Amino acid sequence: MKQQLEQIKSQAMAALDAAQTPAALDELRVKFLGKKGELTAVLKQMGKLSAEERPVMGQLANAVRAEIEEKLETRKAAIHAAVLEAKLVQEAIDVTIPGTPVTMGHEHPMNKVLQEIKDIFVGMGYQIVDGPEVELASYNFTRLNIEEGHPSRDRSDTFYFTDDDAVLLRTQTSPMQIRVMENAKPPICILAPGRVYRKDEADATHSPMFHQIEGLVVDEHITMGNLKGALETLMKRLYGEDAVMRFRPHHFPFTEPSCEMDMQCHKCHGTGEVDGNVCSTCHGEGWIELLGAGMVHPAVLECCGIDPEKYSGFAFGMGLERMAMRRTRINDLRLIFDNDVRFLNQF
Ligand code: DAH
Repeated sequence: MKQQLEQIKSQAMAALDAAQTPAALDELRVKFLGKKGELTAVLKQMGKLSAEERPVMGQLANAVRAEIEEKLETRKAAIHAAVLEAKLVQEAIDVTIPGTPVTMGHEHPMNKVLQEIKDIFVGMGYQIVDGPEVELASYNFTRLNIEEGHPSRDRSDTFYFTDDDAVLLRTQTSPMQIRVMENAKPPICILAPGRVYRKDEADATHSPMFHQIEGLVVDEHITMGNLKGALETLMKRLYGEDAVMRFRPHHFPFTEPSCEMDMQCHKCHGTGEVDGNVCSTCHGEGWIELLGAGMVHPAVLECCGIDPEKYSGFAFGMGLERMAMRRTRINDLRLIFDNDVRFLNQF
């Protein structure tokens, strides 16, 4: 019997050492220690032993059971550790492997310049307003004093939606003057940037869609001096203190008097020549036209219910692309709309 027990023990130890999975361990537990297991089978023969032998064998059997149980526990822990280790190795993340690059977008240079311009005007107390791109002809033209038959209303210049030419894609941001004035009482001080549309072929300086920024200030005692002050502040903040401007008389139906503002060419400093050649930036003019402006026409104030005897105002409208080209030294308008990241990344 002693021999049998020794044999069970050595078999169990060898088998447990060889087992590699928790399931295999469980099978061995049943095989050696279970109710129908080998150890139990031996113990059932205890009755045949003598009274002296029985406690000795009993002790031995218990010792064998304890050893097998202990071995089971150590193997269980070892297998568990091995499984965990294998899993850790398999699922390890190498944080030093370079990641897949995510290509980020880039802020458009024109938006950057727009933001700068907005900041400058907000600093002077202007409120930024937004309005529709699909506009009524009455706002885009009629109420701005642009009568029927005016060349800018021509179908060859304007995108109309309806046969009666009553609805169109706005050709300028000036209708925002009407939209603001018919809904607000002076003092009014707004800036309205947005897209405008004209039937133009795209070339270095034209695009059928472009951006304008409209400004409007209406209050008592507003003069041309206020207009000049606002625009000079803009130019110096945007282009530097040494920027030189000039105002030229001009005509717009919705302002009286009207003017255009030019900026001295930064390339030839107003001379029109670079190294004896005609300056390519201003085409020899010495000046670059930047915007239209003027004092709001009394008829425009009146049609919005504002008393021109009491109030006066100034307005201006500038092309954002032109401002951005000057600011960023881009020489072809199409680059602004192509959205080639190699170009955009330079800003
Ligand atoms: N809307 C005019 C244009 O597109 C620009 C303009 C001129 C706007 C004079 C104004 C202004 O507000 O007073 O050519």
